[in-house]
Amino acid sequence: MARFHRLRVAAVDRLTDDSVALTLTVPPHLGEEFRYVPGQHLALRRVADGEDIRRTYSICSPAPDGEAPSTLRVGVRLVDGGAFSTYAHKEIGLGDELEVMTPAGRFTLPPAPGRYAAIVGGSGITPVLSIVSTLLAREPRASFCLIRSDRTAASTMFLEEVADLKDRYPDRLQLVTVLSREEQQAGLPSGRLDRERLTALLPALLPVERVDGWFLCGPYGLVGDAERALRGLGVARSRVHQEIFHVDAGTETVVTAPAPAHSTVTARLDGRGGSWPVRDGESLLDTVLRNRPDAPYACKGGVCGTCRAFLVSGEVRMDRNFALETEETEAGYVLACQSHPVTERVELDFDR
Ligand code: FES
Repeated sequence: MARFHRLRVAAVDRLTDDSVALTLTVPPHLGEEFRYVPGQHLALRRVADGEDIRRTYSICSPAPDGEAPSTLRVGVRLVDGGAFSTYAHKEIGLGDELEVMTPAGRFTLPPAPGRYAAIVGGSGITPVLSIVSTLLAREPRASFCLIRSDRTAASTMFLEEVADLKDRYPDRLQLVTVLSREEQQAGLPSGRLDRERLTALLPALLPVERVDGWFLCGPYGLVGDAERALRGLGVARSRVHQEIFHVDAGTETVVTAPAPAHSTVTARLDGRGGSWPVRDGESLLDTVLRNRPDAPYACKGGVCGTCRAFLVSGEVRMDRNFALETEETEAGYVLACQSHPVTERVELDFDR
């Protein structure tokens, strides 16, 4: 099960005016716990004035081949008024210790032969950088087309790292950068990447039907547009993986269903179970957390997927879900932070 450990900061690198990369040292006795698949993320925690603040950040470094990692690197973009990102930018320094949750997330690509592509916006490059660099280094029969969009060259995270990859793998990495607020050299597209532009651009870049896996990552608007463009081009849903980094307030998909007057949640967590009454209006995660503070979560907003649990029995309704793929919900997984009971008894398993 995901758990927190204290890791020391080994480097703080400024990437752009509003983003940094933090490198964390993994001591040898924690190496196995911090083993990760390219594309996974870490939740970082800060407890300040009695408040538990958690944010998830994707690992951007390539995954080591066979060995456990000795370092982890994450990209952190400053969010206006963001409690954790402001702290990361202004206060975190070399040698500090951070509380870091073991890697989680299913937006992943273990190296395998094939043709892959990604459409990313802004900090959405972070997990894809780990995916591409691991894939190209380890799998000579793999190729990747990376389409990235940002506002300006100066605001683009990991510009040099991506350029280095392009130099190292000129035949296997195709790179297209689209800047929305800056004129580019002739021939390169500029402006916002929307569904219409992607529908025209993608077939001109690569044989869309022969791509084995598509990775979409970034703000809600871009990921949605890219997903609709791919669907319009006939790409099967099973080949499309998505991770949303930012959901605007108001992008709700609230489904209403009658709630029972009294309901009880039974949860299994780290091998131990318990049953507790659900208070009016609270999420199942909050019920469990009141009794088991070790229950896993990070965003509490239906975006990161850290609170995923298997619904063993009963029925729930989820307020919103930007984290689980259709196959996962069909298989019976729910986001505990977004779930409310529809039946009097609900049973969750966080260990599955
Ligand atoms: S805690 Fe992030 S989706 Fe529930």
